[in-house]
Amino acid sequence: MKTITLHNNIEMPVLGFGTYQLENNQATSDLIIKALDIGYRHIDTASFYGNEESIGKGIKESSISREDIFLVTKVWNSDQGYDNTIKSFNESLKKLQTDYLDLYLIHWPKDLSKETWRAFEDLYKENKIRSIGVSNFLINHLEDLLSTAKITPMVNQVEFHPYLVQPQLLDYCSKNNIKVEAWSPLMRGEIANIDVIDKLAKKYNKTHAQIVLRWNVQLNIITIPKSSNVDRIKSNFQIFDFELTKEDMLSISRLDRGKRIGPDPNNFDF
Ligand SMILES: NC(=O)c1ccc[n+]([C@@H]2O[C@H](COP(=O)([O-])OP(=O)(O)OC[C@H]3O[C@@H](n4cnc5c(N)ncnc54)[C@H](OP(=O)(O)O)[C@@H]3O)[C@@H](O)[C@H]2O)c1
Repeated sequence: MKTITLHNNIEMPVLGFGTYQLENNQATSDLIIKALDIGYRHIDTASFYGNEESIGKGIKESSISREDIFLVTKVWNSDQGYDNTIKSFNESLKKLQTDYLDLYLIHWPKDLSKETWRAFEDLYKENKIRSIGVSNFLINHLEDLLSTAKITPMVNQVEFHPYLVQPQLLDYCSKNNIKVEAWSPLMRGEIANIDVIDKLAKKYNKTHAQIVLRWNVQLNIITIPKSSNVDRIKSNFQIFDFELTKEDMLSISRLDRGKRIGPDPNNFDF
């Protein structure tokens, strides 16, 4: 598994398993076990998803030890602020049946995010989190956070797919040593309707998803496709046995049209 080195030298697996909309039940625990069997070593959840318990259970019931898994969760908007963040962090740990996180993210930027970040920095200094980051932060949010932050976020998890490439944000993150991670990399399944991707799938004899995930990996973007289907979980993992040419990489990046499928972080009232 290729890893991305964060600015504190922690290695983060470039491909992870997304879990949004997976319910809090045994079926989800079983999917986690399957994903770990297939080879995933990075799991992305959030307190907002309401499935941390099943994920913790899946990890416990799997044959993979906790130290070999890169576990990510996020603090939800209503839990932001210093004290609430510490409380929410401890609740997440309990549900996930672990005593540390590999990465903790601020789920969305909010007025209170600077206070939330102070809590993140303290938890990091206390070695309760191996790395800390943000999610859905645009340049203006990052500039604001960095104006008081003592530690630069290691990761920014944002909506990223062929229709939303955000070159300026990528450039800003790269200059500030922040690794970018893609959510909804498959545009929740919509990539299958894009002509260019369809042609590349035929050319490389790969699925649409494999083409797009490979494009992420070659851009050094961490990516976390979600699936509730074991065959698709398996095929989404099989992206390390081929390489897209420079030209084919560009043909995907050129599809960018600034189109979001999720909320715009600058114009969304949580
Ligand atoms: N930070 C944030 O604000 C934020 C927001 C959204 C998501 N996320 C994270 O990012 C992860 C991924 O994003 P996402 O779940 O929104 O969308 P996604 O991974 O782009 O797409 C998931 C959808 O694509 C389908 N799919 C998966 N693999 C496929 C394949 N090989 N062929 C065809 N269809 C396939 C899935 O259906 P099946 O399940 O039926 O396979 C599901 O409907 C989330 O699970 C979550 O962990 C973070």
